[in-house]
Amino acid sequence: MVPPGEPGLLACGGADDLAALEELDEARLLQNLSGRFLQQRVYTYIGDILIAVNPFQSLPLYEKPVSEKYQNHDKGTLPPHIFAIADRAYQAMLGHLATGPQNQCIVISGESGAGKTESVKLLLQHIMHLCKGNSQLEQQILQVNPLLEAFGNAQTVMNDNSSRFGKYMQLRFQRSTVRGAKLSEYLLEKSRVVQQDAGERNFHVFYYMFAGLTAEEKEMYGLLDPSLYRYISGWFRTEDVVECWKDKYLEMRNALDMVGFQEQEQVDMQAILAGVLSLGNVTFQSQENNGALRVSEASKGWLKASAGQFGVQEEELLKCLICKVSVTRGEQIQRFHTQQQAEGKGQRRSIRKIV
Ligand SMILES: Nc1ncnc2c1ncn2[C@@H]1O[C@H](COP(=O)(O)OP(=O)(O)OP(=O)(O)O)[C@@H](O)[C@H]1O
Ligand SMILES: [Mg+2]
Repeated sequence: MVPPGEPGLLACGGADDLAALEELDEARLLQNLSGRFLQQRVYTYIGDILIAVNPFQSLPLYEKPVSEKYQNHDKGTLPPHIFAIADRAYQAMLGHLATGPQNQCIVISGESGAGKTESVKLLLQHIMHLCKGNSQLEQQILQVNPLLEAFGNAQTVMNDNSSRFGKYMQLRFQRSTVRGAKLSEYLLEKSRVVQQDAGERNFHVFYYMFAGLTAEEKEMYGLLDPSLYRYISGWFRTEDVVECWKDKYLEMRNALDMVGFQEQEQVDMQAILAGVLSLGNVTFQSQENNGALRVSEASKGWLKASAGQFGVQEEELLKCLICKVSVTRGEQIQRFHTQQQAEGKGQRRSIRKIV
């Protein structure tokens, strides 16, 4: 994120393409970007690279008429824009530019909160506009975002909607029409399920679920008051926030339908999420005679609830939590966890095994 400039810099900010400047050093680059930012010109080129400065406000830059203007445009005739990047990649792929038809790749990078996720959405929006996409596949491609964000994004100190994973999306075209999409995700921050830093939250989906499920549904999944769950200690209720989560929940369910998840799969998914929350409340204590771990008296109910929600045997789940079994030269070796491991790593491991 580039810091907003001082008013005196306005006069020297102006070049659409910084590569055209006679001299380009860090100071000049920042001056230019600051000046442009103050004029709400958030996009600037450096050759083929687009720099986007996050405006943190809704600007009238992305409506349909703007999309239309950038369709098949000549670079240099219009101000820098994220749609221009999408347009050039699309035209280059089709062979309309000098290079002949070639696969294209757009890389988006920046620090947390810089606007990468929003930029991806805008890119996809424009590409779907370019290929006149109205089929189910195109709708699915656009709809997959709320789903990814529900399960992969969380509030952090840097960004209320921070992506806690990286993604690589491939779109396949036949002539000018999109024929397939493949999404690979990597480096998902799984440890966030078990523990979050101060001022941060767990993945959105847990909050959406509490806000969006009806009282009967919560009963069906065995969900109690959200304040009881250790994994979502960041829960607080202001009506606005809960209303927003409720809308997000509905959007997520809609996306699940759209992407093709069956009703039973969605029920199972939510039961598993409820199970994960119950699991977070299971605590252990060492037995006096042999030091082996046992579930603390107060959390036996949570273990039972969790096993029920996962649809597994309570003993099996307990075994996953308190020990690790490895096989060496055909021999089974059982190693018991420490209390800390059982409440942290053990829970993480059993979530991984079950989900
Ligand atoms: N083009 C834009 N117009 C208006 N607001 C924007 C724009 N881009 C980003 N924002 C705002 O900035 C916030 C953070 O952006 P975004 O989530 O895309 O960041 P990010 O780079 O993906 O961060 P992270 O690495 O944490 O996932 C958005 O929730 C939105 O409020
Ligand atoms: Mg992001």
